[in-house]
This record gives sequence, structure tokens and C-alpha cells, in this order.
Amino acid sequence: MVQEDIFKKLVSHCKEYGFVFPSSELYDGLSAVYDYGQNGVELKNNIKKYWWDSMVLLNEEVVGLDAAIFMHPTTWKASGHVDAFNDPLVDNRDSKKRYRADVLIEDKLAKYEEKIAKEVAKAAKRFGEAFDEQQFLDTNPRVMANREKYDQLNARFVKAMNDTDLAELKQIILDEGINCPVSGTANWTDVRQFNLMFSTEMGSTAEGASKIYLRPETAQGIFVNYLNVQKTGRMKLPFGIAQIGKAFRNEIVARQFIFRMREFEQMELQYFVKPGSELKFFESWKERRMKWHLALGFGEENYRFHDHDKLAHYANAATDVEFKFPFGFKEVEGIHSRTDFDLASHQKFSGKKIQYFDPESNESFTPFVVETSIGVDRMFLQIITAAYTEENLSKEAGKEDMRVVLKLPPALAPVKLAVLPLTKKDGLPEKARKIMDTMKFDFNCQYEEKDSIGRRYRRQDAIGTPYCITIDHQTMEDDTVTIRHRDTMEQERVAVNSLLDTIKEKVDIKTLLKKL
Ligand code: GAP
Repeated sequence: MVQEDIFKKLVSHCKEYGFVFPSSELYDGLSAVYDYGQNGVELKNNIKKYWWDSMVLLNEEVVGLDAAIFMHPTTWKASGHVDAFNDPLVDNRDSKKRYRADVLIEDKLAKYEEKIAKEVAKAAKRFGEAFDEQQFLDTNPRVMANREKYDQLNARFVKAMNDTDLAELKQIILDEGINCPVSGTANWTDVRQFNLMFSTEMGSTAEGASKIYLRPETAQGIFVNYLNVQKTGRMKLPFGIAQIGKAFRNEIVARQFIFRMREFEQMELQYFVKPGSELKFFESWKERRMKWHLALGFGEENYRFHDHDKLAHYANAATDVEFKFPFGFKEVEGIHSRTDFDLASHQKFSGKKIQYFDPESNESFTPFVVETSIGVDRMFLQIITAAYTEENLSKEAGKEDMRVVLKLPPALAPVKLAVLPLTKKDGLPEKARKIMDTMKFDFNCQYEEKDSIGRRYRRQDAIGTPYCITIDHQTMEDDTVTIRHRDTMEQERVAVNSLLDTIKEKVDIKTLLKKL
């Protein structure tokens, strides 16, 4: 199936099964804003728990924080967001559509990469076992030509972005023959900068009100609390502050469902270290974060690092963890070595000393920071993309009996156990309720008695429930139930009194944490 079709199916699956709804859908929705339904919120909470516990529970030197969304407006002057948190925009005069100039160019770069990948795939098929990919990449004329085009474009693009050279960005778009996907023309306006922060007013009277911003990242809440936490927690370097919270960006090109939203959630860690040691910690956080992703079991081949050529104004090293979405490898998480930029800048703008006194060296200095920053919503999309599976269960050639199953890691599944009485009579519902009452304190259970058992299994598969138990007449005799496993669909008979411990162990977030 074409990847785009899979993605469309995924979006409708998320809606149909109560994971994600368009915001205020009653009024036709609000662009790039989404609500999480009854299953979505459970999955989202489990993702947050996995992240939070991996940071705060497993690392003695990491503590949590929950800072306000509204912050003093000078925060955003100091952080550089007022002056530099911009996207370069370009309009197509014929379609009247607006695009991010950098995204148009990045898409073109991706096309060169796709061409190379296609050549490799073709050759691999042709040569079979004897295929030497590196040799092919180094010698095939079509691959080499595309590689050269890619490198030239990339170098020009990185320079234009680093120099904020808007005229050059437009020239690149023209030189590369990039046309508007809607009108098909290259009738572009000049490229302009557009600030991504939402603003509002705080205060009751028009004269007394002041302009404030909705935070575009949670990180600044951590920086302005650095001293509070360090002093009250008597923290010694290196130490980290972790936070989960909403962030807001007036994204112009809001695309791909919950991949790029205007209101989203971030999970950020700022790790404070001695100056000079930041690149060592940058490397170790890269490794630790990749391990966190791989522990979910979605396959190493679907992840990669993408080191930045163009560094943000505050960073001396940066990389993205990318995941292979149906629309290509895309960023899920950013890991940045932010130097002392933020703390030094807040010190300058606030006039207050923000330093660390090192009792060993008897010196005071501004700590350096390594940041890991991941979007909850993007991680949600990554997980649900990887988990979505269509299987044909028919054993007859040419026939279809499709089941859609979300192969979620059990610890993240919204519902861990479905409790299903075989019929609505003979005391089976009462017995099922009784079993559920002993389980519901430990994990999320769902009781269902409507429809055939097969249909109920399918509904649970579609929301990723790892275990279903069926209460039947035998249960009434020997206190055993059938347990059905989501992925294999295998069924076994187990004693009711062993259920709680068996399932609890398999669905606990600890199963993931222990892999780290
Ligand atoms: N404090 C650093 C920072 O905010 P970022 O690369 O702009 O860095 C970090 O964002 C992560 O937040 C991204 O990797 C992505 O997962 C998520 N994110 C950023 N913008 C987003 C948006 N508009 N919608 C959904 N997630 C977003």
C-alpha cells in the first residue's frame, strides 16, 4: 500500500477509536489543534510516565518542575525568541498558498535522497547477495550526480539559513525549479520572516495591560528556575531539571496531523554541567535517549541521528533523533548542547547573578547546559504509526479477512485488560465484574458484554489491548478463564487467582524502564 494511504488510514483510525479528534470539531475544527479522546489520553499519559520515570525516577541527579505557561515578557527577549524565533515564509501568487521557504528546500533535498535510495534498492534487487552497497554508492554515475546536487544544494541552503539571507533562499527556490504543489507555478513572492510566538494581553485595563507570550518551549521555565531548584534542592553539578508541559507556536505550515501543531506538549530536560564537559554529556545523552526509543521495540532500522549543520543561535552541537514515518525520516526529538547562552542571557537581562559555586575548585561560573527535548504528540504519532498493523487472517488464497491491530508495547496500551463474559446470562457477567473489581486498582480494565466474542476481540485489537479474558461456563466450575494474547491471538486457560500478578508484571511501565 502507498505510504500516504497508510497515513490517511491511521488518521481515521485515531478518530474512529477515540484516540485523536480535531479540536472543536463541532465548529469544523481549528487548524493544527487536536483533542485526545478516551484512548488517546491514556496512551499520552503512559508516554509521559515512561519519559518522566526514566528521567526523574531512574536518575538521582534529575528532579522535576512544573513552571507556568505565562512568563515575564523579558524572558523571551533574553532567550532570543522575540528577535529570532522566526520562520522564512514565501507565498505563491497564483494559488495564494503560503509555505515555509526552508521546508520547500528541505523537501527538494529529500527528493535527491529518495532518488539515491531508489537506485540502491533497484541495484540490490538486481545483484542479490553479491551487492556491495558502498561500492555502488561510490561508483554509480546516477547516484554520484544526485549526491553532488544534494551536497551543493545543502551547502548553499545551510549558508543562506545561517546568514538569514532571505533573498538567497528565494533564489535557491527559483534555481531548483521548485513549484507550488497547488498551482504548479514558480510565481513566488519575496521570502519574509514571521515570528512564531502567540501573544496576548495580561491586565484588566487597556492602558495597564502588557503584552505577554504563550511559551513556545518549556525550557525557559527551567532556566529561570535554575537558582531556585539548585539552592532549595542543594543540587551539585552535574544535575538535571525535567519538565512536561504545553508549548504554543503559530506554525504556518501545519501539516501531517499531530506532527506539527499549534498547541502541543513537550518533555524537556535541561542538564547543567561544568563548562568544558558539555560535549561529553551531549554524547552520553544521545546514547541514553536512543536507548529509550529502542526499548519500545519498534526496530533499530527505523531510527537515526541527524546531526545539524545549521546550529541554533544558542548551540555548539545539536542532533535530532529521527523516526521513519510514512512520509519519511523526521525529527521526533532534539538534543542540543546549549552552552551557557540561556543562563548568561537571563543573568544579563535580569541583572541578577545566576552562577554555580563549585566547592571543589572554589570557583563560581555559569553552568553549561545539555538539553533533550521531545514532543509528546510527535512521540504519540511515532508510536501509533509503528504499532498500526493490518493483517489478513484468511487462510484461503485470494480471500480477505482483515484485522487491524495496534501492536503497542503493553506498558503504553490505553487498556491493559478486557474482561469479556461469553454470554449475558448464567451469572457470567456478575463473575466477570467480580474479577474486574480485583484488577481495576492495578491497571486499566475494560468490561464488554455486547456482540460476539470475535467482534469484541477485534475492537480490543484496534485499540491495542494486550490481553482479553473470557469468562465462560467452565469459569463457574473451576475458577479459570481463557486469556487471549493480542499479537499471536493464542489462547490459554489460566487460574483466576494467578491473573493479577501475571498481567501486572507484563503491563507495568517497569518492563520498559528495566531495559534502560
Ligand atoms: N527547547 C528546544 C526546543 O523546543 P525544538 O526542536 O523546537 O526544540 C523540540 O522542539 C521537540 O518538540 C521537537 O523535536 C518535536 O518533537 C516537538 N515539536 C516542536 N514543534 C512542534 C509542533 N509544532 N508540533 C508538535 N511537536 C513539536
